Parts: sequence; structure tokens; C-alpha cells
Amino acid sequence: MKNIILMGFMGCGKSTIGYKLSYKLKKCLIDTDALIEQKEGMSISQIFATKGEAYFRELEYACLKTLENELDGRIISLGGGTPMREVNHSILKQLGTIVYLKASPETIYERTKHNNKRPLLQCEDPRARIEELLTIRNPIYETLADVIVNVDHKEIHEVVNYLVEEVFNENISH
Ligand code: S3P
Repeated sequence: MKNIILMGFMGCGKSTIGYKLSYKLKKCLIDTDALIEQKEGMSISQIFATKGEAYFRELEYACLKTLENELDGRIISLGGGTPMREVNHSILKQLGTIVYLKASPETIYERTKHNNKRPLLQCEDPRARIEELLTIRNPIYETLADVIVNVDHKEIHEVVNYLVEEVFNENISH
């Protein structure tokens, strides 16, 4: 099986869905944000605060480059902004099947409003920021995606089961 790449806006469920999917499909999970935090010895928030977003985007690119030749069927969960850099597109395309977990601004706002670990949403009007960013990002996500799954009003297990049974056609009973 090819790698499965989980892509989508902050709060769409990439990490949780990635975790459950890796368990069901018995595949190794790679979370690029976690890899970056591990390598830098700092949280994403600390990286943004001390070194800035541009530096973080370089780390994201470097992280993708290290995965470029890992084509052995892993689940790779991206940061929400990774697909915004064009230089990352060809790497993502050759890395595996790209699944866009598509969520509305309302869903994203509800899922992120009590979390302060996302520097881009630590602003006066996070709701407006989500809409603004999503307007820019959604067309890019849609262009890159091999598969689009709408996650609005769906439980995590519903999305995971749909991916396992309908998209990746695996018959697993747990
Ligand atoms: C970002 C999303 C975050 C993290 C960073 C920037 C973005 O990851 O990479 O805060 O630009 O959308 P999640 O999508 O896992 O929250």
C-alpha cells in the first residue's frame, strides 16, 4: 500500500484520524508537526514565537524532504499549512495518496476554540481568521487532493471507517 497523507485545515482531525487509521491499518504514523517539535526541542508555539513563521515553514519543507523516499505505506499527518508552499507540492504528490479532510469554518472554529496551541489562531477574531485562511487554502487543498472527505457532523470513527472500508478497501473487523 502507498503512503496515506492526511491534509486539511487546523482542527479537521488529521492527528486523531491518523492515529486511529494507523492502528486499524497497522501502519506506522508520522506526524510532521511532532517530528519538527522533536527535532527542534520546542513546541510549534515556541518555534513561531522565537523564530517566526518563515523559519517554521523551512522546517516543514526540510521535514518533507526527509520523508521523500519513505514510500512504504505509512500514514503521514501534515500541518495545516504545509500544502501552501508550492515547493512542497511535488513532494506531497509523489509521497502517496493525499486525503483532504474537508471541514467548514464552523466545524473548525468549534474544534479549535478552546485550544491555544495554534499560533495562527491566537488573535482577536479567530473565527474571521479561519474564514480568511480557509478561503485561500481550500482551493489549494482541493487541487492537491486525490480523495476529499467531508468531516462536518461526522464522528472520528465514521471518517476512519469510511477511509478504511470505502477508500482503501481493507476489511478489518476491529
Ligand atoms: C498550521 C497548522 C498547525 C501547525 C502550525 C501551522 C497552519 O498544524 O503546523 O501551527 O498553518 O495551518 P495543525 O493543522 O495540526 O493544527
